[in-house]
Amino acid sequence: MLAIIGAMDEEIEVLLADLQAREDLTFPGVTLHRGALEGVPVLLTRGGIGKVNAAMTTTYLLGQGATRVIFTGVAGALHPDLRVGDIVVSTDCVQHDVDVTALNYPLGTVPGESPSWAADPILRAVAVEAAAEVPGVQVMEGRVASGDQFIAAREDVQRLWTAFGAACAEMEGAAVAQVCAKAEVPFVVIRSVSDTADQSAEVDYREFMPQVARHAKQVVRGMLARL
Ligand code: ADE
Repeated sequence: MLAIIGAMDEEIEVLLADLQAREDLTFPGVTLHRGALEGVPVLLTRGGIGKVNAAMTTTYLLGQGATRVIFTGVAGALHPDLRVGDIVVSTDCVQHDVDVTALNYPLGTVPGESPSWAADPILRAVAVEAAAEVPGVQVMEGRVASGDQFIAAREDVQRLWTAFGAACAEMEGAAVAQVCAKAEVPFVVIRSVSDTADQSAEVDYREFMPQVARHAKQVVRGMLARL
């Protein structure tokens, strides 16, 4: 079954409103909504903010039979060409806040784990096709950098861009990716840009998040028709 996760209510509420034959499954800290969207059986959920919530939610989804996972939400741009409203489809995900360099592991690498997790090529291709139908926005395929930090300084944008070559920064994608990779379940992360992760990020995020979250949702809808 296809699973769709958003971090916040704004990121899933439009999809939730359209869920047919909805059944709620409640677990400690997480409610999953089972039903059908555009005739496709799905599990839909608000996963909460940050990597721990994302990992926990993904684990529940896999336990309920998720065989493909789409994460939808907003992100701060790191790539200099990205503007508010643009869409990033993940090539792969990294955890930018993991630092075991003191023990000689590369920055971002959890000892014994992969340095990054690759998104599924089919889900990526379908996401890019669907994203191309959202009017007036640029679609970029790129690396998603996740960490338990809201990035809001030019120096941090520079640092993450230089260290990881990531297109955008957010707070969940790599945790979803890591759990999916362990279970060999395909995933993709779709993020619309709410801010440029610099000094204006806080104001831009508050202003644009609800509006641009709709772009990522439009992509999910477009994907449903193709899956
Ligand atoms: N999600 C949206 N904007 C973000 C930012 N600047 N940093 C981290 N996560 C975000």
